[in-house]
Amino acid sequence: MKKHSTLGEYIISNQRKFKGSSGELSRLINSIRLAAKVVNHEVNKAGLVDILGDAGDTNIQGEDQQKLDVYANDIFMQTLTNRQIICGIASEEEDDFVTISGDNGNNDNKYIVLIDPLDGSSNIDVNVSVGTIFSIYKRITKSGTPVQLEDFLQEGNQQIAAGYIVYGTSTMLVYTTGHGVNGFTLNPAIGTFYLSHPDMMFPENGTIYSINEGNYIHFPQGVKDYLKYCQEEENDRPYSARYIGSLVSDFHRNMIKGGIYIYPTSTKSPKGKLRLLYECNPMAFLTEQAGGKASDGYMRTLDIKPTELHQRVPFFCGSKNMVAVAEEFMKNHPKDATY
Ligand code: AHG
Ligand code: MN
Ligand code: MN
Repeated sequence: MKKHSTLGEYIISNQRKFKGSSGELSRLINSIRLAAKVVNHEVNKAGLVDILGDAGDTNIQGEDQQKLDVYANDIFMQTLTNRQIICGIASEEEDDFVTISGDNGNNDNKYIVLIDPLDGSSNIDVNVSVGTIFSIYKRITKSGTPVQLEDFLQEGNQQIAAGYIVYGTSTMLVYTTGHGVNGFTLNPAIGTFYLSHPDMMFPENGTIYSINEGNYIHFPQGVKDYLKYCQEEENDRPYSARYIGSLVSDFHRNMIKGGIYIYPTSTKSPKGKLRLLYECNPMAFLTEQAGGKASDGYMRTLDIKPTELHQRVPFFCGSKNMVAVAEEFMKNHPKDATY
């Protein structure tokens, strides 16, 4: 597919590659594209309208929700449920998964979606990039019946597609269906995404490390040792520290420039902070499709067996060789029993 094709054209040509495809996945990606444009419009207005501040609710993880979190959640939930192209959806902002029953109670759709509707929400009121992360699986329970928890607790290696939208200096939609990673940039004047970054690949090596180093004192010894290594004077080191505080934006930069992102366990958050199903698995799928490596410091993220919807895990991802070195440092210390 040539550069500057639109996302719409790309989706259609991609569908032709799958013989006998029902077009369900294409319709689903199309709906995400639509919701992304609506949320993008609202994110861009954030400084203009009275949408800043907490919405007053607290989500299941005990975090204050910003108004735009609620808005983005509503838009994605509505767009995906109204169009009846999936049979279930789980969101970081909802306590439980939602079953989508068709008009007459029947729903033969095969896909489920897991979503972090607004990632990096603490950055909204300071005009810094935020994002949306999505993950798509085929249900494993019987078609036509209500979805079950087990449909959502599949290993990340079962993902059919995953991606993110970064609402940045320009807005991009980046996704994979398991055949590499492609990035599309929105032309806001006409509301069209264009293929701007075909076949995105993590450089095998990089010189950026991204971690909230303010929590250093609480980090496991393996992470502390690795950070020392990043800061030593040797070959291409010391590396540069870059941390936006939006996983989507930190990831996007590292994929283009080469780097490693780490959100480890800590004495404050013994299981880490990021959610396996809404954040780590989709990012891990993209990482591997782009030639990078993603793990919990010890094992491949995509092979972790999920046990609950809002499960948190430590996350190491980025340039293959950088993550491999970080894992070597982790090996020298036994895995924390709490994780
Ligand atoms: P969310 O806004 O969806 O809750 O996610 C925020 C996440 C992630 O995007 C970011 O990398 C990380 O939290 C930042 O956490 P710290 O502020 O602890 O560094
Ligand atoms: Mn998030
Ligand atoms: Mn979020």
